[in-house]
Amino acid sequence: MPELTWWQKAVFYQIYPRSFADSNGDGIGDIQGIIDRLDYVHDLGIDALWLSPHYPSPLFDCGYDVSDYTAVAPEYGTLDDFERFLDGAHQRGLRVILDLVLNHTSDQHPWFIESRSSRDNPRRDWYVWRDGKDNGPPNNWLSTFGGPAWEYDPTTDQYYYHFFFKQQPDLNWHNSEVKQAMFDAARFWLDLGVDGFRLDAIGTIFEHPALPDQTAGLSQLELYQALQTVRSEEERARLVEQQKAMFQYQRDLPLVHDLMRELRAVIDEYPDRVLVGETDSIAYYGDGRNELHLVFNFSLMQTERLTPAWVRANQQERLTALPPGAWPCNTLGNHDQPRVYSRYCDGQNDDALARLSLALMLTLRGTPFLYYGEEIGMTDLPLEDGCRISQFRDNLGVWVYHTAVNQLGLPPAAALVYANLFGRDKCRTPMQWTNAPNAGFSPVGVRAWLPISPSYAQGVNVADQLDDPDSLLTFYRRMLHVRKQTPALVAGDYTPLHEEAKDYLAFLRRSEADGQTCLVVLNVSNQAHSLSFDLDVHAAQLLFSSHARDGDTDDLSQLFIAPFEIYVAELE
Ligand code: GLC
Repeated sequence: MPELTWWQKAVFYQIYPRSFADSNGDGIGDIQGIIDRLDYVHDLGIDALWLSPHYPSPLFDCGYDVSDYTAVAPEYGTLDDFERFLDGAHQRGLRVILDLVLNHTSDQHPWFIESRSSRDNPRRDWYVWRDGKDNGPPNNWLSTFGGPAWEYDPTTDQYYYHFFFKQQPDLNWHNSEVKQAMFDAARFWLDLGVDGFRLDAIGTIFEHPALPDQTAGLSQLELYQALQTVRSEEERARLVEQQKAMFQYQRDLPLVHDLMRELRAVIDEYPDRVLVGETDSIAYYGDGRNELHLVFNFSLMQTERLTPAWVRANQQERLTALPPGAWPCNTLGNHDQPRVYSRYCDGQNDDALARLSLALMLTLRGTPFLYYGEEIGMTDLPLEDGCRISQFRDNLGVWVYHTAVNQLGLPPAAALVYANLFGRDKCRTPMQWTNAPNAGFSPVGVRAWLPISPSYAQGVNVADQLDDPDSLLTFYRRMLHVRKQTPALVAGDYTPLHEEAKDYLAFLRRSEADGQTCLVVLNVSNQAHSLSFDLDVHAAQLLFSSHARDGDTDDLSQLFIAPFEIYVAELE
């Protein structure tokens, strides 16, 4: 087996720059703040960082509306600061990947300002402009963030296309100058030494050229409503299918794979870089070598409960579908999703379940991506009494609110609940460093850009957990350490055991090259179990347990597993 590359062995940690650490006391996270915390991340046992957009942006979509691809947002610092950050990370052996937003720019990007200025502007064709039809937009396509996907521009009497907000016009990737400009932007950062990119929203780069009407038969609002009240996995699956139909001509067009191959060739001009796609679709691995290095296994997270049956089915489907040579990539949280701690908790065993979520990430086959704050158990920001929609920063939440009030006739309080449900502020709140007002994110007395979660005062902060042997943070550090020391957990293949078990997940990770096989048991229930494994070997040597155990050697014919225990052992 070939030696694994760094991104196959690494554990990634996503930093949302606005919310990580505010070094200059303006209420907004910045590059210097990240530099100040590099030792923290390194000591945690992280190998690579993914930085959400750090580019200048009018922030209509919290930085995913870029107005300059080769600069640093002034509120985050300068390019010099960025280079110091990159050096500091590299000196500690931490790799850094950036977010690359290819599908669209901000409507404030100079390219779009030029493009919309006249029909014969040289940049007109850099975006997707079309004539209207029957006094309306060119077709009935929807924007995923609400309303039609076409915006009328009176200056030139045409419509432009936007898959996301109208402040995020889609680039026209059929235009070779667009491709060149974006590839140059990528090279700019690669030349500085960044280790790769997380590619934003790649599925939506191309649209069906004939612009056929979609036939989903429901609006996004109806879809959102249905998703809110979903009662079973079957119903959710049906809604996901309807959602696919809604965007069938706007997503995952075959042409995008040609582009991914071209981008891969750009990346391959540089040694040792990585491309990670924000997509669930295995097709983006290409033949396993010629498109993206990693594609997120988002399907794993799309459930109310991470039951053993769910995880087994997910692994069975994903791992068998991968093309030869492709490497899996697992995650349970990011800046668009509810916090892991809130999402998979049951109100009684939340801490144990959070530990099991991490254990799952670190023991499944594939590269794990963790999200800042998961390691201390940060939760979704609860909707505070007296909260007003004007306090929301995520415009998706704002759109949901106004639509709920104006189109559903909901009272403001109910609409706020709705807005909080779909809005993403709740998972983007400032990192909680200490048990002090502002949680050590910003100096005391400064108003942070998003509210600080009150949980910082209940032990959900780094300072309180760092030296506490029983804390979630200590657990993270221990488990990350064990993973690093255990080649089979990094490189090994995956074989499920006891596939009928409802209460626990058991599997082997075996690396022939390293001559190591590990048994992993994750008990997601409050029941103890005595398990019997019928394997070639009969004894196991303990590598890690979340619980105190009698001795380090276990008999595999009667392996005692405590409620919620995380058990990792090497087969003798
Ligand atoms: C991606 C980002 C999300 C953003 C969207 C539009 O899905 O993760 O935060 O809103 O793209 O850029």
